[in-house]
Amino acid sequence: TELAQIRNFSIIAHIDHGKSTLADRLIQRTGGLSDREMSAQVLDNMDIEKERGITIKAQTVRLNYTASDGITYELNLMDTPGHVDFAYEVSRSLAACEGALLVVDAAQGVEAQTLANVYQSIEHDHEIVPVINKIDLPAAEPEKVRNEIEEVIGIDASDAVLASAKSGIGIDEILEAVVAKIPAPKGDRTAPLKAMLVDSWYDPYLGVVILVRVIDGVIKKGLNVKFMQGGTDHLVDRVGCFTPKRIDLPELGPGEIGFITAQIKEVEQAKVGDTITTVKGGAAQALPGYKEVQPVVFCGLFPVDANDFEKLRESIGKLRLNDASFSFEMESSAALGFGFRCGFLGLLHLEIIQERLSREYDLDLITTAPSVVYRLTMTDGTVKELHNPADMPDPVKIDFMEEPWIKAVIYTPDEYLGSILKLCQDRRGIQKDLTYVGGRAQVTYELPLNEVVFDFYDRLKSISRGYASFDYEQIGLQEGDLVMMNILVNNEPVDALSMVVHRSQAEPRGRALVERLKELIPRHMFKIPIQAAIGAKVIARETISAMRKDVTAKCYGGDITRKKKLLEKQKEGKKRMREYGNVQIPQEAFIAALRMG
Ligand code: GTP
Repeated sequence: TELAQIRNFSIIAHIDHGKSTLADRLIQRTGGLSDREMSAQVLDNMDIEKERGITIKAQTVRLNYTASDGITYELNLMDTPGHVDFAYEVSRSLAACEGALLVVDAAQGVEAQTLANVYQSIEHDHEIVPVINKIDLPAAEPEKVRNEIEEVIGIDASDAVLASAKSGIGIDEILEAVVAKIPAPKGDRTAPLKAMLVDSWYDPYLGVVILVRVIDGVIKKGLNVKFMQGGTDHLVDRVGCFTPKRIDLPELGPGEIGFITAQIKEVEQAKVGDTITTVKGGAAQALPGYKEVQPVVFCGLFPVDANDFEKLRESIGKLRLNDASFSFEMESSAALGFGFRCGFLGLLHLEIIQERLSREYDLDLITTAPSVVYRLTMTDGTVKELHNPADMPDPVKIDFMEEPWIKAVIYTPDEYLGSILKLCQDRRGIQKDLTYVGGRAQVTYELPLNEVVFDFYDRLKSISRGYASFDYEQIGLQEGDLVMMNILVNNEPVDALSMVVHRSQAEPRGRALVERLKELIPRHMFKIPIQAAIGAKVIARETISAMRKDVTAKCYGGDITRKKKLLEKQKEGKKRMREYGNVQIPQEAFIAALRMG
């Protein structure tokens, strides 16, 4: 396709403002799928994505649209993941586009998440086309929202398209605006090939599929290509695009977005942000912006039922095929048996993997406390990376410990600012900047990552009623006064709950944990002490008193079926319990205890 007839864009929207519905409409309007094939929300194609409303893997669809000028345009609509854990993937997707549709709910107006995304888009020099959606709602106030877009975001919204993705209003106007306002990509067909690797995933039939944006040159079947960062060579055996059906094409030229396959077996070999060029006469310089992504949060995943270990191994292996940012290695725990130490991009990433394992592979899992990677400098001068608190050496052998820090940028409506500053302060944050954009505050903090991996994001969302958004990047290691805290149940350490904490946080965190556990662990026939300790020093303690009656006693032996049911229920509960020093701890307790509210 001629450059002048190509438009590459993404959709920016706050959660629930109608991004998926609009994408579906655009596909339907341009005939990518017949009505029968239009299943609900085709772009979000994984169950978890649908349920949680989060896009995990970027997907791009090509729409062929004949505009009012009579010319048929190739529109590439790129879906981007919407969470900070995947910030790097988002940045590469945005770098592959020239513009964005900004979808704002006509009844809700501009929200914090919208802002964060818009700024990213502006940073990538995107042309932004505002769309005011849901004008069919009785509560819609399109004119108010139009002003808000101008005041808060600072872009011209005088010709914002008024639309209802649900009722199909304004769809043609949106397509016309894309063609008229978003610039065509630039590129040189005769220059050496330069294509950006935007995304990659594993397909059971095709192997690794790579989404590319061609900058210069042409990519076609039979070409020998080189991945400039990965340093590997591959033979391209298929080129195509999604409409969203997969279609093979003879080539992808400059400005185009599509996929290639090249007999690659593992996604690890196809790193997001890499530059693809030809083996012969290739480009001299790779595209800017490449970053190697590395897991930052680690935790142990153990099967509740030890017999599920092999199944867990297989399932983790399968998930890893599709997600190179997630790492795993075998680990054994005194209390939990055999499992895996896994690394994730962040807490949401952790939750997604954990959820997929339990749902898609039907596994009951215990997750240990998430931990970041610490660097230990030992008294003998050697340096160690600590991925697992269980591997913590004797403190007297440690000279000093360093922990990773992040720079976090938080956008929030003014009224929540006070509580947010307090939250950051409580988490050892150092305020770096505070500015106002429209009616919203933008605060910058430096924070230790280990204070963020617990429940920072959940807390932020709850104190701001979901309005605050948060973006972060790592800024390196800093020395910290860190200690290992153990949790003892009935005088036995529960290794799954031991964690590295800053000395100043140990007591409040230990107290919160034992209080939580007191509620979560059912009573037994004997008294159960629950303690938090640093070394031999107990810093918090609670006791669960002994149970007085048999659970079935209140059935008076009369109603046999009820008694049976109760016992069965108990048995079922047992399966999901772990035993520590004769104490049964329900599986949910581990997860709940770690989610300190
Ligand atoms: P996430 O995937 O959660 O980010 O949400 P989204 O922005 O993709 O929103 P989605 O398309 O899933 O729409 C959210 C809800 O709004 C759904 O219940 C839609 O049916 C509804 N919706 C979308 N567009 C319109 C519209 O134009 N009018 C009305 N009344 N409802 C709409």
